[in-house]
Amino acid sequence: MDITRVTVDDRAAVEEVVHLGEAVDKVDSPWGHPETVASVTGWLVHGWDGDPPELFALRSGGRLVAAGEVGYSSYDNPDLAWLSVRVHPDHRRQGHGTRLFAALSDRAAELGRTSFGMGGWESAATRGFAERVGYRFVLSEINRRLDVDDVPDGFADLVARSRREEAGAYEFLTMTGPVPDELAEPMTVLWAAINDAPLDDLQMEPEVFPIERIRAYEHSQAGRGRRLHRVVARHRETGELAGHTIVAVEAERPHFGDQHDTSVVRAHRGHRLGIVLKGLLLEYLREVEPQVRSYDTWNAESNSYMIAVNDAMGFRVMGRALNFQNRGPGGS
Ligand SMILES: CC(C)(COP(=O)(O)OP(=O)(O)OC[C@H]1O[C@@H](n2cnc3c(N)ncnc32)[C@H](O)[C@@H]1OP(=O)(O)O)[C@@H](O)C(=O)NCCC(=O)NCCS
Repeated sequence: MDITRVTVDDRAAVEEVVHLGEAVDKVDSPWGHPETVASVTGWLVHGWDGDPPELFALRSGGRLVAAGEVGYSSYDNPDLAWLSVRVHPDHRRQGHGTRLFAALSDRAAELGRTSFGMGGWESAATRGFAERVGYRFVLSEINRRLDVDDVPDGFADLVARSRREEAGAYEFLTMTGPVPDELAEPMTVLWAAINDAPLDDLQMEPEVFPIERIRAYEHSQAGRGRRLHRVVARHRETGELAGHTIVAVEAERPHFGDQHDTSVVRAHRGHRLGIVLKGLLLEYLREVEPQVRSYDTWNAESNSYMIAVNDAMGFRVMGRALNFQNRGPGGS
């Protein structure tokens, strides 16, 4: 048994990781869109917003049987790392998960991190494994999917009515790709509003969003072949940015997308901006990415406001993921 780091230049190893992911997803999340060599490579080069994770592979008898990542942010939460382990379904309950997890924990500690989170689809294995390594349950998240051909009748009317009757003080800007320079600074406030989303018992500091991070996010998503589409709400009278929502579409597989952040700053809540933003983004996507058939979203299960909007749009629940955290200095 050996554990080695997988780097992007080792294409054979990346391919093995993709095959492992296919086998794991088939069992744990068959509705998922499997990773590809390009998607794993892009992830290892760019990460989400410029902090690529470290990927490790565990081989036994010459075969890759488990893979895992150490992820962290360089912008905030200097104590926190996210660890993930996936073990091939044919090789479970043989201690591989435990061994790889120990190696990932050591690596995260070497990087100066002390508070570790991990997550997995709700299952006996996820719960049992987390319990065995001594982590506590902190947050449940739901993955939902919108079939764009199956949006309830009346949703478009609801968006139009909300816009007219409750969001009349706002204008809505649609855009693709990086935000123009003049919006970059005000955009930092919109991004930071995501800190109001519930995290339940997850211990972490508020995230920070300087312009460099926003640009790093745009750069990383483009580098990973993701086209970003966005609607921004602007208060007409003051010119303040009030909210935004983003969907990314993969160039490699443009029939599906992923919902990224949706946030409305506190001073502008209560005007149905959530529903209007998301409704207008759906309309915009139909225009600029007519081939998109569905897109996925993730919310904390306790995020009742966002979920109410998603339910009204017709998002369907695909699965529940459970998050756990250690009892280290940051996670006690
Ligand atoms: C969770 C996962 C990583 C465990 O990998 P594994 O190699 O089977 O784990 P180990 O053999 O090291 O098991 C360690 C302990 O975890 C617990 N555990 C593992 N699988 C379990 C299951 N299906 N039911 C209950 N407890 C389980 C047990 O206490 C086990 O010890 P035991 O076998 O002596 O009883 C694996 O099932 C997996 O890849 N699942 C999909 C990805 C995922 O959910 N990862 C996140 C985990 S929080």
